[in-house]
Amino acid sequence: MAGQGPQSAQELVRSFEALPAEFARELAELASEQEIRLLQARYLGKKGRATELMKSLGSIPQSDRPGVGLAANQTREAISRLVEARLAELAQAELAADLARAVDVTLPGRRRRRGGLHPLTLVRLEIERIFQGMGFEVRTGPWLESEWNNFDALNTPADHPARDMQDTFFVEGGQVLRSHTSPVQIRTMLAGPPPVKIIAPGDVFRRDDDATHTPMFPQCEGLHVDAAVSFEDLKATLITFVQRFFGPETHIRLRPSFFPFTEPSAEVDASCFACLGQPPERATCRLCKGTGWIEIGGAGMVHPNVFKAVGYDKYDVTGFAFGMGVSRMAMLRYGVADLRLFYENDLRFLRQFPAG
Ligand code: DAH
Repeated sequence: MAGQGPQSAQELVRSFEALPAEFARELAELASEQEIRLLQARYLGKKGRATELMKSLGSIPQSDRPGVGLAANQTREAISRLVEARLAELAQAELAADLARAVDVTLPGRRRRRGGLHPLTLVRLEIERIFQGMGFEVRTGPWLESEWNNFDALNTPADHPARDMQDTFFVEGGQVLRSHTSPVQIRTMLAGPPPVKIIAPGDVFRRDDDATHTPMFPQCEGLHVDAAVSFEDLKATLITFVQRFFGPETHIRLRPSFFPFTEPSAEVDASCFACLGQPPERATCRLCKGTGWIEIGGAGMVHPNVFKAVGYDKYDVTGFAFGMGVSRMAMLRYGVADLRLFYENDLRFLRQFPAG
């Protein structure tokens, strides 16, 4: 037996030949590379069992040594092969486990949740893009305004009936929550000389709250002032806008109206894009209620008193202005019947709009 005094060459060969099987039994218990390498060292390392056996080589006759050496080499090789095979087996098992865990190509993909823009924002951006395409710059102003910017400079003095028309939120210190975006006209003209070509989108406030009115709502103002801006320019601008927004077949209709800050003034209607104003569809059209026209805003030529308020010379310049309700445009664009849906933040509603 190994380790018991001098052995014969035969015994030594048998001892070597027994090692791989013994190694294999121990190896079968192990499942980590580290443990396997330690076991390998216990057989083949400097103080390993095969190495110990080799030390007996000196005590056997010279002529028997090659046979023993051969057995020793075969043993070392067999053990090394067992190690490699076992390690490969473990790596395979690990890979299989990974695959089973991570990839099931038959599952549907996991969608990433994308945020989206609010429909009122989508429509505002579209309005901005259309007017920017016609050379208008986008300007904004504060919600809290002076009464002068919101009314007086817009030819609406304290005793003017229009001041009752707009049910305004008055704030202490002579300020108001702006009741329209028209004060941005005033701010822009006060800030510099003509020409001016701007649109002013933004929220405005009125003491109103029902199915068709909310106390805060978005508007978009427009103003073009230059040496010879005409009513014709106003019409061309509005036609271009409605055709880009509602479709190339759209017309406009201007109805005489009154605004303190414009003269003459008009209500702006766009031809109904649902029935195209054509009978018989028109008769039952819910969008225009059978009229063939949809009201989209007000407009007119800038009143000389407005120029006076901002220090522009009414003999140097003329201009047109317009204002429209952005939520109204959004209702029309998306076929939304109740204005309040835009403000309730119900995700089932909001998720129906493109991400922007
Ligand atoms: N400021 C008006 C409103 O809020 C809308 C408006 C009408 C603006 C005519 C204009 C305009 O600039 O010319 O009802």
